[in-house]
Amino acid sequence: MKHVAVAGGARGIGGAIARRLARGAAKLYVLDLDDAAAEATVRDLRREGTGAEFIRCDISSQEDVAGAAERVRSASGRLDIAVNSVGIFDFRKGLMDTPEAEFDRIIRVNLKGAFLFSKAFVPLLRGEPKGNMVHIGSVNGVLAGTGLSAYKVSKAALHMLARCMALELAHEGIRVNVVMPGWVETPGERAWATDELAKDPDFFKKCGARSIPMGRLQTPEEIAECVAFVASEAASAITGALIPVSGGLGI
Ligand SMILES: NC(=O)c1ccc[n+]([C@@H]2O[C@H](COP(=O)([O-])OP(=O)(O)OC[C@H]3O[C@@H](n4cnc5c(N)ncnc54)[C@H](O)[C@@H]3O)[C@@H](O)[C@H]2O)c1
Repeated sequence: MKHVAVAGGARGIGGAIARRLARGAAKLYVLDLDDAAAEATVRDLRREGTGAEFIRCDISSQEDVAGAAERVRSASGRLDIAVNSVGIFDFRKGLMDTPEAEFDRIIRVNLKGAFLFSKAFVPLLRGEPKGNMVHIGSVNGVLAGTGLSAYKVSKAALHMLARCMALELAHEGIRVNVVMPGWVETPGERAWATDELAKDPDFFKKCGARSIPMGRLQTPEEIAECVAFVASEAASAITGALIPVSGGLGI
């Protein structure tokens, strides 16, 4: 029975990962800022028989992340799987139109948050058997573009952070991988597309048909299945990988 932590596990892709990894888990920790969504997820997991716990944590705060790691250490002692699914978006803006404060905020959450999470949670993976870490990157971290720019920069840097960390930890038997979604309908995406969805409820369906080689968006569950695979013993020699789950987008 595994002990698992999912940062950003309250909703969206992280919520699907939490639900998927809860299968067969003794304890699943949801680290998030969205109290209502996190409590609802934890309630669902408990109803299905998993010992789930919400730890309120801003991943970009060293104090919060260290406190969350300490809580996990005192309750579980060690972890099998630590997933970072936190990410914030800047849609539509190129770099020349991105205010400094917004650039800082995106880098602080998407990149520095991943750094703080890794520093605080890797020690929990050092028990026996060794645990592993998965970050949710993005195909936007490998595709240049004229919008979403600060986000693309943050995800490209997150990919490199994970690969450096994978090399640093390989000799200890601790694996670090990145799963890169392409385009997934989630609460975060729906918040961005409120105007478009008000005009056309099929907005995302049409986006998928137009811009994804497989003709549709991915589901949160499809991303979660890949995370479950790469975090499992079946992937015991995979580390430092950037795995697209994108319906062909960005390949
Ligand atoms: N949805 C997509 O199309 C898509 C595509 C590629 C990559 N991704 C990546 O997948 C991940 C999840 O995205 P999503 O679409 O599910 O987003 P979402 O906004 O629906 O969910 C993000 C979760 O992270 C939490 N969160 C945000 N800031 C936080 C912070 N500072 N500390 C702790 N928790 C915080 C939110 O409360 C939420 O529960 C992100 O890393 C995103 O960049 C998403």
